[in-house]
Amino acid sequence: MCRLRSFGALCILTTLVRIVHALDDLNIYQNDRLSDGWENWSWNTEIDFAATDLISGESGTSLSAKSDEWAALSLRHRTTFTEYAGLRFDIAGAQPGVQIFFQSTSEDTQSASILLSDISDAISPTEFSSLLIDFKSLPGSGAPLANGTWDRIAFQALGSGASYHLDNVVLVGEITIAPEIISAEPLASNTIAVTTKGEVDIASIAVKLNGRPLRISSRTTYSPPDTPNRSISYLSLASSLASGALEISAGETSFKHTLPRVQRGIVNLERRLPIDPHIYGVNWPKSAQYIHQLGVTLSRWGGNAVSAYNPFDHFTNAGSDWFFENRVAENGKSDDWLGWIQSAGSDAIMTVPALDWVSKDATSYSYPRTLYPEQQRWNPYNPDSGNGRFPDGSNLTPHTDPSRVYTHWNTSMATRWLSSLTNKPKFATIDNEIEIAAHTHSDMHPDPVSYDEELDRVTRFALATKAAIPDIKVLAPSPCSWWFYWTSQLGWDDTAAHNNTDFLPWFLQSMKDLEGKHSKRLLDYLDIHYYFQPDTSAEDTAAKALRLRMTRSLWDTTYNDESWIGTDPQSHQPNPRAVSLIPRFKQLIKEIYPDTKLSVSEWSSTNENDITGGLVTADVLGIFGKYGLDAATYWATPNEMGPTGLAYWLYRGYGTFFGSTSVQVNIAGLNPDILGVYAATDDRRQLSVVIVNKDPTSAASLSLAGLPTGKYFIRHFGGGAGIAKWQTNTTLSSEYIVVPSYSAVFLQQQR
Ligand SMILES: *[C@@H]1O[C@H](CO)[C@@H](O)[C@H](O)[C@H]1NC(C)=O
Ligand SMILES: *[C@@H]1O[C@H](CO)[C@@H](O)[C@H](O)[C@H]1NC(C)=O
Ligand SMILES: *[C@@H]1O[C@H](CO)[C@@H](O)[C@H](O)[C@H]1NC(C)=O
Ligand SMILES: *[C@@H]1O[C@H](CO)[C@@H](O)[C@H](O)[C@H]1NC(C)=O
Ligand SMILES: *[C@@H]1O[C@H](CO)[C@@H](O)[C@H](O)[C@H]1NC(C)=O
Ligand SMILES: *[C@@H]1O[C@H](CO)[C@@H](O)[C@H](O)[C@H]1NC(C)=O
Repeated sequence: MCRLRSFGALCILTTLVRIVHALDDLNIYQNDRLSDGWENWSWNTEIDFAATDLISGESGTSLSAKSDEWAALSLRHRTTFTEYAGLRFDIAGAQPGVQIFFQSTSEDTQSASILLSDISDAISPTEFSSLLIDFKSLPGSGAPLANGTWDRIAFQALGSGASYHLDNVVLVGEITIAPEIISAEPLASNTIAVTTKGEVDIASIAVKLNGRPLRISSRTTYSPPDTPNRSISYLSLASSLASGALEISAGETSFKHTLPRVQRGIVNLERRLPIDPHIYGVNWPKSAQYIHQLGVTLSRWGGNAVSAYNPFDHFTNAGSDWFFENRVAENGKSDDWLGWIQSAGSDAIMTVPALDWVSKDATSYSYPRTLYPEQQRWNPYNPDSGNGRFPDGSNLTPHTDPSRVYTHWNTSMATRWLSSLTNKPKFATIDNEIEIAAHTHSDMHPDPVSYDEELDRVTRFALATKAAIPDIKVLAPSPCSWWFYWTSQLGWDDTAAHNNTDFLPWFLQSMKDLEGKHSKRLLDYLDIHYYFQPDTSAEDTAAKALRLRMTRSLWDTTYNDESWIGTDPQSHQPNPRAVSLIPRFKQLIKEIYPDTKLSVSEWSSTNENDITGGLVTADVLGIFGKYGLDAATYWATPNEMGPTGLAYWLYRGYGTFFGSTSVQVNIAGLNPDILGVYAATDDRRQLSVVIVNKDPTSAASLSLAGLPTGKYFIRHFGGGAGIAKWQTNTTLSSEYIVVPSYSAVFLQQQR
């Protein structure tokens, strides 16, 4: 309270200070009710605001919530609460599958979702855990909460529904962060990277190697703009790091590392292979800023929903992904999308629908309850709309009439649409995974697609596409997985009917024959989707190690895939257990249809929230360049602050690019399960190197002959501080280069 009369001037001052620094907490739920100004805006959720079956502390009640799949406890305040520092709440439940996000009623927008499991993985059903979301550094991503006129908070159940109790839900005015050294690690030749929270005295940090103090010649600290409340300090050592016991200490805190003996290798600048810049693509980049931040070179308009995209009226339908329901195409008009993508500096792949129907409006759906009362699942937001399957999972019969939700589509319409585009794409795929249309789009295409049908559709729509845009490059047939590389949904009989030839080899041969017939190429890129098949969902140590070594399936002809692949081959492929994706397809192309390029328009790291997903991505981007893949787009849009996004930033962020010509690195006895090393030069003969250390506990040490000594720009993510991004300049000695455990490093020579 301000005592105006006696302390006029001081009062103004303290009031100002209070406004700037110490906003009072705002209660949302406490003591059996929502606080003043808060309303219940929940959906499909049973809520008891005065539950007595589980209580926290002295309060006699708590809030119990039971949500169906994707339903939410949603609370709205009468004004916006943008200025608060964080959200604190007590929660109990059997680790409920919940995500939290903020919404703006006036702008109809919502923030990124925060997984409850990223805040805590130890939520108990019998006791409350008190959790805090810091708006400056969100759990999971470390990114700040985006600006928005937020007035609603949602606790949304994931796909299995959720049941939990909440208490003491509060928007907090201020968060004080205790000083903490999060990690202190050796980096490159003479640098110690120290990440901190709060106010840490960097000058108090001392470094010893094998018991002897190392002199620190300089210290720099910065707080990366995208990683607030984490600072990084780089300590430059007066002498180079070397093998042995390294100790970094500050007061009571100490970090110990064993620096291993170097692995020796050679960078051979004479062995060169151009890297196609189109390997650094994604599906559906978020914005021009995103393209610049991650250095995205190729953007794909793709996925299951684009098969039914109506380019004249901008409606679409995601098929079995979402109850066969029409909607307004959420990515807008194709021409506008191509416009902003291409002016942001990325090339584009447009998907040309190649089935016989596209969505006719924004609201119709294929399987209403009135016509098909017995269905397996119903849309939680529209109980009249089913998933098109009988309770046992088989497709509904009789077939639905496609004209209920679709309008006719054909090649002349495709030509008309593509001809009308102001912003012409450089690339087009002919539809998306149409070999499984009888599943994904069973409402409009209930019968399995055969070899002949697929070839016919690709041929007709490739001709229509090239008629509209003669120099466009056509990518096809984009099958979803290894199984469908070699056969159709009809199976062996269809293979047998085609001279017993596996599907893609037959397809390549057919496209070659068609080039003869039409005196032009109809197929420029053999396009496939590739999702790693080993099961790493356990997310334990073994699963993470498997995830990190399975990248060998992209290149290693001796690596047997650790999955079902090859166990029941359904193909005539040599060595059917070794995927060796890039060499295998390059060989097939060379034998059957030379000069066809190879692209992968969908692939995934398998976990975009764990550091191992980021290391996989850094490894894969290196492999794509080293083994000469011609184009690739990630499925779908990695979070720019999550580990997968950071791998793109590592290679390409903000206009600093990994080289355009791969050069060979030979390291005796390199174990690719533990280490990936990629090098390249560019037009200015500046060397760049990416090193991925997949070892969860031990640093890697390399000596690389042929690597020039001197000043390097360095970027890195991962390591002891978890997922965050940093960069600095360093002086490299080719004799000893350290990469911390579980991290990826980019080095670029400076001249
Ligand atoms: C909260 O709102 C939802 C949606 O309107 C409603 O179904 C539910 O009954 C409400 N719960 C309480 C306890 O008011
Ligand atoms: C929010 O807006 C402020 C002021 O315009 C800006 O300084 C800040 O960087 C923005 N934060 C985010 C996360 O966009
Ligand atoms: C947390 O970050 C904000 C800005 O990002 C800064 O103002 C604040 O001082 C930081 N707090 C601590 C304790 O580091
Ligand atoms: C496509 O449909 C339109 C309208 O029905 C028709 O005029 C046109 O001839 C059709 N094109 C082809 C190739 O069948
Ligand atoms: C059938 O396949 C064999 C090899 O498996 C090949 O030699 C032959 O040319 C093929 N015939 C046709 C008509 O494609
Ligand atoms: C690294 O050095 C370059 C000049 O070579 C400078 O422009 C850049 O700002 C420095 N970067 C960092 C992170 O210190």
